Amino acid sequence: MKIAVLPGDGIGPEIVAQAAKVLDALKSDGLHIETEYAHLGGAGYDAAGDPFPAATENLVKASDAVLLGAVGGYQYDALPRAMRPEQGLLRIRKSLNLFANLRPAMVYPELVNASSLKPELVSGLDILILRELTGDIYFGQPRGIRTLESGERQGFDTMHYSESEIRRVAHVGFKSAMKRSYKLCSVDKANVLDTSMFWREIVTDVARDYPEVVLSHMYVDNAAMQLVRAPKQFDVILTGNIFGDILSDEASMLTGSIGMLPSASLDENNKGLYEPCHGSAPDIAGQDIANPLATILSVAMMMRYTFAREDVAQRIEGAVRSVLQQGLRTGDIFEAGMQKVGCTAMGDAVVAAL
Ligand code: NAD
Ligand code: IPM
Ligand code: MN
Repeated sequence: MKIAVLPGDGIGPEIVAQAAKVLDALKSDGLHIETEYAHLGGAGYDAAGDPFPAATENLVKASDAVLLGAVGGYQYDALPRAMRPEQGLLRIRKSLNLFANLRPAMVYPELVNASSLKPELVSGLDILILRELTGDIYFGQPRGIRTLESGERQGFDTMHYSESEIRRVAHVGFKSAMKRSYKLCSVDKANVLDTSMFWREIVTDVARDYPEVVLSHMYVDNAAMQLVRAPKQFDVILTGNIFGDILSDEASMLTGSIGMLPSASLDENNKGLYEPCHGSAPDIAGQDIANPLATILSVAMMMRYTFAREDVAQRIEGAVRSVLQQGLRTGDIFEAGMQKVGCTAMGDAVVAAL
């Protein structure tokens, strides 16, 4: 298992250090894990003048999987767009062709009261948001800021999805639904956007290969509302890049905190990049208070999807469950009566439980 580790910026190094301890523990248990570190994001810009340095690209291409913390920071916000940390992330996703982004939102019974919704709405919740990750308005050309004939300035981006891009992610969606509850809800804005009208047409066509799966379509504004009204109506949510970005942050609060939401970004061959759904949280960086569980759970996803080690994945998820049962909580999921711990202590507890 050759794993490239990219701590990134902000809380990235702190949370990745906890996930690395989990990898070390698995290694001393006999898994053949090899890790190598490289820079991405602001760390890449600082070290090599590029948010996705060539050395990093070479390393991730030669690895089976990538573990990433997060990128971004206030000190980089004024850089030209190409040098911003976030561009490093978009480029690594594109470079590895990671078009399928799995963001599972499941509620641990111990955290039912940490959710911002009423317990009965979220108890037992287990949904999978499948976000297309290498297309959409994120990558469409042309884009920029231009001056119109009137002299007024204008910002513009282009949204598009090609048929093959929609088809391949739709297949991942239906296959995921076949392993779950046979329900797939495709989320779009087909009442307004041509891109979405086309998306709906192609998803409907792909559905013919999966007669066991019940396909529904929902407009994204309604989906945003339904996610907080009755989230358990969903099984798999299939959606494009920008809608998936927004809906997955929304769904994270159902689970108690964005610090609980892992992700897997996969190519056609299950090579993958694994990272928490949250960002670099510069507001709490360097204080050892960030929740490392989303990153640790991303390692579980790595074992499941890239290395086909469901047993190891479940062992890691079981260890996370066990520390929650012990009452350990970082600040973001803290409730009265529980024991507040920092990032490092939480990582240590997971390793001990493992
Ligand atoms: P964010 O996800 O970093 O933070 C949002 C809020 O959630 C903050 O209050 C933060 O403290 C909290 N939070 C996030 N992760 C947490 C954790 N593990 N434990 C406890 N609290 C946590 O989003 P933002 O503030 O909008 O963005 C900050 C920076 O991160 C920006 O530069 C943004 O571009 C970048 N970003 C990167 C990624 C990524 O690397 N995948 C994702 C989102 C945002
Ligand atoms: C995420 C982030 C990224 C995205 C940014 C940092 C480019 O928000 O991983 O969800 O929008 O995809
Ligand atoms: Mn996001």
